[in-house]
Amino acid sequence: MKIDGTAFRSLWLDETDRWSLRIIDQTKLPWAVEMPRLTTLDQVAHAISAMLVRGAPLIGATAAYGVAIAMRADPSDAALQQAITTLSATRPTAINLRWALNRMESLLRDHPKVERAEAAYAEAAAICDEDVATNHAIGRHGLGLIRSRASAGRRVNILTHCNAGWIATVDWGTALAPIYLAHDEGIDVHVFVDETRPRNQGASLTAWELGKHGVKHTVIVDNAGGHLMQRGEIDMVIVGTDRVTNAGDVCNKIGTYLKALAARDNGIPFYVALPSSTIDWTISDGLTDIPIEERATTEVTTMTGRALDGSIATIRIVPKDSLVVNPAFDVTPARLVSGLITERGVCAASAAALSQMFPEYGRQN
Ligand code: MRU
Repeated sequence: MKIDGTAFRSLWLDETDRWSLRIIDQTKLPWAVEMPRLTTLDQVAHAISAMLVRGAPLIGATAAYGVAIAMRADPSDAALQQAITTLSATRPTAINLRWALNRMESLLRDHPKVERAEAAYAEAAAICDEDVATNHAIGRHGLGLIRSRASAGRRVNILTHCNAGWIATVDWGTALAPIYLAHDEGIDVHVFVDETRPRNQGASLTAWELGKHGVKHTVIVDNAGGHLMQRGEIDMVIVGTDRVTNAGDVCNKIGTYLKALAARDNGIPFYVALPSSTIDWTISDGLTDIPIEERATTEVTTMTGRALDGSIATIRIVPKDSLVVNPAFDVTPARLVSGLITERGVCAASAAALSQMFPEYGRQN
């Protein structure tokens, strides 16, 4: 996608040093667009855990390059194991991270050490290219759902939560891919963007990227969605996900479950867009089997923004002695999901539909 007229992916190899990785530092958006260069395994691991890069597909792709960078420094078995262990520990919930690391490990394990670095960079590049193609396919399938609601030039109002746009993937996004394609073909599409406390991925990131692409949008506080649904102002919900069970339970950013409940109560379709790399074929119960990341309480007790003098300021908003918890994800049971938008098409959130859509994986269960 484009930033001020120039096409970017959300990560790429440096133009002058093809061994180092460039990313867009998402902790700086929307105030500044900074593109740091990562040259060591520790820098890559830090970029993922501190959320300079975030979003399930993007952390998988970044981790793949982390392995490649580690292999260039030292292609030994011990270094490979160290890279996999370090990167696996960066974030627990999104299965794409483990998916990408498994893919890198199984390729490199039996590879001659002298060729490991080149092979690792090539595999990481393939993961990125596949992610772009996959998300574009998700966009095409989701576009059909938006088109069907856009009768006679009527505006389609879509609510989304968190950021599942192009900067959460290598390009296009998952939940936002159908919206970009709808906008590009002239459908009057408008997005209600949940701010997504505590880190405000909606207000800071989704609003930023929709704005850069010229997509009409309105930022709302997290609690406004149900009210807007009751007033008939939302036609459909589309969100991304960090892990889907083989039975169709959906884990996504904290607050997603409440939007699904409100959508069900108001008869509004609730869609989840995902690449198949987000499906964890080994688990079926989202409530018991998915590790939910607990993040620092300072994400809740403080807010960061741009002060009126232009400086970036962090302020405390919670009394000093209050207890705080900060679960970063929740699970929406499959029964509340109207459909899963995958790269192969739209299917029901159920074990039967998923294994029919992906028989090569479904058979393993
Ligand atoms: O904590 P984050 O910002 O990494 O969480 C991201 C999300 O929850 C996204 O909705 C999800 O990864 C889908 S990204 C295409």
